[in-house]
Amino acid sequence: MKDGEMNFDTLAIHAAEQHDQNQALNNPIYMTSTFTFTDLQQADDTFSFKRKAYVYTRGGNPTINLFEQRIAALEGGVDGVAFASGMAAITSVIMSFVKSGDEVIAHRNLYGSAFGALKHLMPDYGVKTKFVNMTNLEELKDAIGEKTKVLYLETPTNPSMEIIDLEAVAKIAAEDSIKVVVDNTFATPYLQRPLELGVDVVVHSATKYISGHGDAVGGVAVSKNQDYIYKLKFGYMCELGGVMSPFNAWLLLRGLKTLSLRMERHSSNAMKIANFLAENPLVERVMYPGMETHPGHEIAKRQMKDFGGIVSFELKGDLETAKAFVENLKLLKLAVSLGDAETLVEIPALMTHRDYLEEELKKFGFLKKTIRISAGLEHPDDIIADIKQSLERVR
Ligand SMILES: Cc1ncc(COP(=O)(O)O)c(C=O)c1O
Repeated sequence: MKDGEMNFDTLAIHAAEQHDQNQALNNPIYMTSTFTFTDLQQADDTFSFKRKAYVYTRGGNPTINLFEQRIAALEGGVDGVAFASGMAAITSVIMSFVKSGDEVIAHRNLYGSAFGALKHLMPDYGVKTKFVNMTNLEELKDAIGEKTKVLYLETPTNPSMEIIDLEAVAKIAAEDSIKVVVDNTFATPYLQRPLELGVDVVVHSATKYISGHGDAVGGVAVSKNQDYIYKLKFGYMCELGGVMSPFNAWLLLRGLKTLSLRMERHSSNAMKIANFLAENPLVERVMYPGMETHPGHEIAKRQMKDFGGIVSFELKGDLETAKAFVENLKLLKLAVSLGDAETLVEIPALMTHRDYLEEELKKFGFLKKTIRISAGLEHPDDIIADIKQSLERVR
């Protein structure tokens, strides 16, 4: 069966399958930094591209390549580039599209370090970012100027769970030959495939749902353009050096095998948590695109298969109430990161999103007291029981 003929769940297990000389079910981990040559002639043939072979793991490694090809098949791309982390993928991809004097337009609500890189780091290299509300397409159109080279966004966004219309944004960008880069970490390719909606590059923190077990840090970028992937790999990943470990590539391949099953459970648990919270009198606002009252619900229904595993919310009262709630939880773990089997909870403004200034938070779509829950794979009744007992104690 060819890859193109297989369904998502099958591709997650079999895409780009390689023959192993020992017929091992799982591909071996090529835990090696370098590859040997029999003689200088073979080395010369390799370096002059007469012979296709691995040379050095930063430039290519069979385990990493298999991960890149498998995730590319799932995203509907031609190939991918694996990175040491999601942030290495994000910064390398953005750098690959801009030079000094150019401008990026980003959605206002982003993962804290992505916001920090655009707001604080890139200006030192002559690249400025305008932060706009991309849920308002007119605001986006008005912001685009001659210097705009890249639109950068997440959907759903971290932590506000805002939904951005990918097809509409890609259409607007295409009119001015602007590249669109989407962080698909929250949705994963099982729930959303941005490349099919006209987006140029998808990036991931593979640390999250792709790993799924909280045991590996990694990133990946996927595109439909093979020349671009070649440029990103050899011009950026290799030169900047944010290479993935082969061991992590193997862990991520293992994670991918169960991605669809896990995303279904994460999504159904999140929906149950959101419904529970929405009905609780202590809760002020719930942000989950699966709720009909969510402003992005109709767009999410169109561009996503399900609504994902993250629920953000605010309690009535102040930051102290939010702090007491997270500290009274017993089963749910207080931690950054998301997408793991364990349900994780955090207060973004105090943890992952400290790059946002306090007075700016509201403008960027969340509050100091906003709480983010990454619904794990535990039984939903147990997750909700823990939330309930903590809410009772807070009251
Ligand atoms: C949406 C999103 N993108 C990117 C990242 C960064 O990924 P990493 O921690 O793998 O560098 C994160 C991390 O939390 C994230 O939540």
